[in-house]
Amino acid sequence: MNKIAKSNSTSALILAIDTSCDETSASVVQGTTILSNVIASQVELHKPYGGVFPTIAKQAHQENIDRTVKLALKKAQINAKNLTAIGVTVGPGLAPALEVGINYAKNLAQQYQKPLLAINHLEAHALSVLAQAQKKSVQTQPAKNLPTLAQRLPALAVIVSGGHSEFVYLDQIGHYQILGQTIDDAVGECLDKVGRMLELGYPAGPVLEKLAKHGNAQTYQFPLPMTTSQDFNLSFSGLKTAAFNKLEALQTEQLLNKQQTLDFAASFQQAVFRHLLHKLEKLLHALIAGKIKNTQQQILTPPKEIWLGGGVAANMTLRSSLRNITRKFNLPLKTPYTKKLCGDNAAMIGVTAFLNLNQIKIEQDWSKIDRQPQLNFPQK
Ligand code: KG4
Ligand code: ZN
Repeated sequence: MNKIAKSNSTSALILAIDTSCDETSASVVQGTTILSNVIASQVELHKPYGGVFPTIAKQAHQENIDRTVKLALKKAQINAKNLTAIGVTVGPGLAPALEVGINYAKNLAQQYQKPLLAINHLEAHALSVLAQAQKKSVQTQPAKNLPTLAQRLPALAVIVSGGHSEFVYLDQIGHYQILGQTIDDAVGECLDKVGRMLELGYPAGPVLEKLAKHGNAQTYQFPLPMTTSQDFNLSFSGLKTAAFNKLEALQTEQLLNKQQTLDFAASFQQAVFRHLLHKLEKLLHALIAGKIKNTQQQILTPPKEIWLGGGVAANMTLRSSLRNITRKFNLPLKTPYTKKLCGDNAAMIGVTAFLNLNQIKIEQDWSKIDRQPQLNFPQK
């Protein structure tokens, strides 16, 4: 496929597809503006298993993909022949699930002779704050002088999802440095596992958030993990074990009534976020003091913004606690403009594809585009 003409134009139209886990999603974006973002959720199918079952995910993606893509094009009022490019998630994610989206995208790219871009799902969570809503009415106010993307960088992305928990420094699109990450469970995974013990269904993160609002977070005490380590890595498995042990004791003594469940949810959620934010605060202190270097041994400039992304970013308690910290450092906290952009969705894939149009290698040979289930941030 030829080079993309005027690829940096904000009018570039991209169809994006994400089938990395349990949502079949397709979206059309124009530049960083979302024209459509369709999500066919499989949550109900996986609920009986308390997690995502890969073969069921694959089958559901196969059943949903065609109508999801067609609906995304229809909602955006775009004919596929007018697309600039197609972007598809290649990883990280479940291999059988990724495969469905990749194969569909390859066929579509072949049929319409469009460039195909292989997109990293984690990078997309980090860049999801850059997605913009379509303006519905004619603006009466003059547009504010918004900073350009280059003026907003470097930024520190905080990715909190069901599969990942990472602090990532970005100084330009495609240039990332992981400054801290979980060494075991991800934040969302930990909330889901403890939620399962409380029989809250799957995914339990949003249910825990609701219960926690009515509970007293001071009732149960949990340890603060990794206080002696000098790095900015995270570990949630100790908290999870502490929660299991406490719950077992409460259940054995039949002490887990309704109010205690609410108090437990509030206490545990607070403990999880306290650890995340404690490490983030340490990291911000280190960045501002010029104590962190890149791989070329140059000191990293302090970030200008904090970008929150991933499924757990929808949690309002996390957002307000995080804002209390970023305020101390005089840093703006940016979150996706709608909660729909926090969980898995194809619009963030489209925005990432657009922002990468000039950097990403457009693969001429589509057979080389393949699943990368273990993909991490593209680091340079
Ligand atoms: O980003 P995501 O949709 O999928 C992955 O890429 O992993 O994240 C899913 C995770 C699940 O663990 C879910 O429980 C969690 O995000 N989650 C929440 C909330 N909404 C979703 N956790 C806490 N509070 C929420 N409101
Ligand atoms: Zn995700």
